[in-house]
Amino acid sequence: MKFQGMTIGVPTEIMHGERRVSSTPDTVKKMVAEGATVLIEKGAGEGAFFSDAAYVEAGGKIVEDVQEIFAKADVILKVKEPLFNEKVNKHEAEMVRDGQYLITFLHPAAPVNHEMMKKLAATGVISITLDGIPRISRAQGMDALTSMSTVAGYKGVLMAANRLAKFMPMVGTAVGVIKPANVLVIGTGVAGLQAVATAKRLGAVVTAVDIRPDAREQSTSLGAKSFDVGVPADVAIGEGGYAQRLSDEWLNKEREALKPLVKDADIIILCALIPGKLAPILITKEMVASMAPGSSIVDISIDQGGNCELTDAGEVVVKHGVSIDGTKNIPGMMPTSSTWMFANNVYQLLSFLAQDGKIVLDKSDPIIESTLTTIDKQIVHRGAREAMGL
Ligand code: NAI
Repeated sequence: MKFQGMTIGVPTEIMHGERRVSSTPDTVKKMVAEGATVLIEKGAGEGAFFSDAAYVEAGGKIVEDVQEIFAKADVILKVKEPLFNEKVNKHEAEMVRDGQYLITFLHPAAPVNHEMMKKLAATGVISITLDGIPRISRAQGMDALTSMSTVAGYKGVLMAANRLAKFMPMVGTAVGVIKPANVLVIGTGVAGLQAVATAKRLGAVVTAVDIRPDAREQSTSLGAKSFDVGVPADVAIGEGGYAQRLSDEWLNKEREALKPLVKDADIIILCALIPGKLAPILITKEMVASMAPGSSIVDISIDQGGNCELTDAGEVVVKHGVSIDGTKNIPGMMPTSSTWMFANNVYQLLSFLAQDGKIVLDKSDPIIESTLTTIDKQIVHRGAREAMGL
């Protein structure tokens, strides 16, 4: 059996406001069926509405003290990077141990995580980061980044719509017809396309912008009006077919092209990202000021710095009469669906890694190559090493 004799630990997430958990009763049941002992911290699933009783029914064991989980587990499954656990007064990076596996989102290249990464390496834990799952077809089921972007795009539109002082769809009333809202989505990768689909379902008129022709085509197929800001494909597309960072000159041209769309938009959903880089600023304060008061922006790209000059990370602010939402961790606001997807992604990754009760790492496999972060007391993740000057 795949997980025969393996102990798998599921701690409660401790980041402020985090309601997701790394495993559902459903994935616990599958792990147990394949021979694993699964230890779940008491109340770990509560934020996502998975009760301790449901985990027990699935064959899991509820453990009161998280330190016992870290001490016993061969593999720890988490959602977020290790943080200081106030309940036990100890950093999670100090609870992991030599030879133990840790699977979670580590964002190892982000400067804020460098110290934590060094701590992890020092313990000898073998850490695997979910943000490194490559975009290849056999890894699709493990791609938690894509799952979480799907949630962010959907929920982002609902947050904006909720704040808008107008209807989203066209509404015929006895006193006349109310026009539908104009929604502008910038950056139609996974999150942006979900935002387009959600805004269309709500009846808005949707305009979509991306610098990659493929992304424009995909948004058109979802019913958006696609707008070309005039950046040539060879300037827009870089390594692996992803967007690349534009020069200041091209960014200025793009902002000029965006101005009339921004002025007319009731809602703007911002999801333009460059892999591994800061998000480009596409909406300046002057552009926000050109919008009608009561309009609404949701800056989904805030974790990478945001696409709007006026977004405050983690805050909802009103500037020039426009609400600008910089909520971080939007997927955590829809914990049941995001946990369901996340837990299945993690389960698929673990199933791929495990053979006869052991984790087997073939370092030449692209999935391992791009996710393996620490091993043999070293940081081996390429992006993290570059960012840390190692
Ligand atoms: P992302 O989150 O890195 O970027 C979001 C979007 O922002 C991209 O479409 C990008 O072109 C756009 N963008 C960047 N700079 C911009 C600018 N200055 N102005 C306007 N737009 C800008 O992208 P994500 O969501 O990671 O998806 C990238 C591609 O990868 C997509 O085509 C997606 O279909 C593909 N993908 C493939 C998967 C697979 O094969 N397993 C899984 C997930 C995504």
